[in-house]
Amino acid sequence: MKQIIVSGMRPTGKLHLGHYLGVIQNWVQLQDKYECYFFAADWHALTTKYDKTENLRQNTLDVVMDWLACGIDPEKSVIYVQSLVPEIAELNIYLGMITPQNWVERDPTLKDMAKILKTKEGQGQQINYGLMGYPVLMSADIMMFNADFIPVGIDQVAHIEITRDIARRFNNLYGEEFFKESKPLLNNCSLICGLDGNKMGKSFNNDIKISDTAEETSKKVMTAITDRSRLRKDDLGHPDECEVAFKYWKIFGSEEEVSNVRCECEQGQRGCAQCKRQLAEKINSEFEQIRERRKYYEEHPEIVEKIIAEGSAKAREKAKEVLAHVRKLVRMY
Ligand code: TRP
Ligand code: SF4
Repeated sequence: MKQIIVSGMRPTGKLHLGHYLGVIQNWVQLQDKYECYFFAADWHALTTKYDKTENLRQNTLDVVMDWLACGIDPEKSVIYVQSLVPEIAELNIYLGMITPQNWVERDPTLKDMAKILKTKEGQGQQINYGLMGYPVLMSADIMMFNADFIPVGIDQVAHIEITRDIARRFNNLYGEEFFKESKPLLNNCSLICGLDGNKMGKSFNNDIKISDTAEETSKKVMTAITDRSRLRKDDLGHPDECEVAFKYWKIFGSEEEVSNVRCECEQGQRGCAQCKRQLAEKINSEFEQIRERRKYYEEHPEIVEKIIAEGSAKAREKAKEVLAHVRKLVRMY
């Protein structure tokens, strides 16, 4: 019997290279060793964007297409949409009943989200009941499949702590060691910075998307920050102060290529424009296959819809079993 992995992403739109390197590559490898459940957390998206749902469906499709293109394989993993597994909503109710209010109130990630919402960027939004339930709903996601491990970023670990507390409380209250205490598996989220040297993010307009074309990627890479002290091509360069381009080389180049770039840069034999053109080619060749596959899915949305429908049906089968046992333990009618 394989151990179980559950992880999800809020469908906020097309994913970027930070998601690929930090999260999806990791998921792709986990698929061979674990029974994996990967889902688009569309209810979680609603906790803050309930008033902006016009792109929710497309965003969900986009996220799933990115996963598929990157090698998340519906033959190996269960790929589903959270809201297509309504059993999660019922489990959420039982878990909400046994969760003390102060457990969610002191959740640091939730506090951060609340802070952002109150600022101008968040348009001074009030905090709604659903957002307060964010960690409980996340616990329902995880406990629905009685997961052993949850691959997440460091910012999500507090939520997993609450999940463990809720699982323990459930087991104590209803007299059976039914739910496991899931453990986080940390993603490496700081692998790649944005083109401007800040954290890569869609809202900062400094990202390269998995789905960008080779031309779009090249254009973006040409804007990457380099050694700011360098004005002319034959000025001696300082790769370690080349804020973005050289860092990308270290991610995408071979050892030999990187030492070659370093050498030529330091000796003033390599201009930054030429250097970045080469870098863009390197990135484009790494993503060529992924982008071809992505294009195929874009042109065949019915295949993606079918994968989502079948994955969600599979997820429901397992969820129904867990839920039947939960109803029995809670002594529902
Ligand atoms: N909160 C997670 C995020 O923003 C997404 C998520 C929802 C999730 N439910 C989950 C992740 C369950 C792991 C397990 O990244
Ligand atoms: Fe950076 Fe390349 Fe320019 Fe050197 S030549 S500063 S490594 S972009």
